[in-house]
Amino acid sequence: MTTLTVLPSGKTYDVAAGTSLLKALLETGEAIAHKCDGKAECGACHLFVQEGRKSLSKIQRVENEKLDSIVGVGSKSRLACQVVLGEEPVTVELLGFV
Ligand code: FES
Repeated sequence: MTTLTVLPSGKTYDVAAGTSLLKALLETGEAIAHKCDGKAECGACHLFVQEGRKSLSKIQRVENEKLDSIVGVGSKSRLACQVVLGEEPVTVELLGFV
């Protein structure tokens, strides 16, 4: 298990390491868009990882290519559907495009 903190709500959840960040967020009930159901095609699940980036799965080519096409991407950007949670606590900021 690890701890997932979600901004802007500020709520904290216990989530299983080794699962997808999108799946974990959906299970918490937080509002996260996922129009392509996790195929790295829509970009709707774009969020910022504010803390704990190092313990997450690395960005793969398919995610990198999609991020390149999204406006407003920064160094903290990830696609939630492509992130696998690690053992370290993570703080993510939802961007509210639901
Ligand atoms: S759900 Fe579409 S890119 Fe993540």
